[in-house]
Amino acid sequence: MGLRKIRIFGDEILRKKCKEVKDVNLRTRILIEDMLDTMYEANGVGLAAPQVGVLKRIVVIDVGDGPVIMVNPQIIETREEQTGEEGCLSYPGKSGIVTRPNYVKAKFFNEKMEECELEGTELLARAICHECDHLDGVLYSDHVEGEIVDVSGQPDNA
Ligand code: NI
Repeated sequence: MGLRKIRIFGDEILRKKCKEVKDVNLRTRILIEDMLDTMYEANGVGLAAPQVGVLKRIVVIDVGDGPVIMVNPQIIETREEQTGEEGCLSYPGKSGIVTRPNYVKAKFFNEKMEECELEGTELLARAICHECDHLDGVLYSDHVEGEIVDVSGQPDNA
């Protein structure tokens, strides 16, 4: 199991734009495995590569239906809105209210560089938006309505 250190808000790497992945080599596969281990260990529902200090366009998500690995993800369709609590593993113990689309369709490559599409609603739609934002240096705090509050002990962080 390969755990990586999660970068915390204030670390400037979280504000950088990530680079496209050209091919998934051994190094990238190890990164993806480590990202999954790190996300599960932290009880998160998503993690983006810059959160472990790597400026590549890779995210992992698991909202309870098994792991989704997205390489070079792009959101191609959104519909409706949801407003609710959101957290981030880079803001441990914190949460804020964020409005996101309630339906998201994304295209991406999987770990074999096969083209894939995924549709998500509710938490999955929120997680896709949140993690894709990370790849452009955008943090949920940029979207928060009102204050970020202390919710130490709650499990759902992305
Ligand atoms: Ni996050």
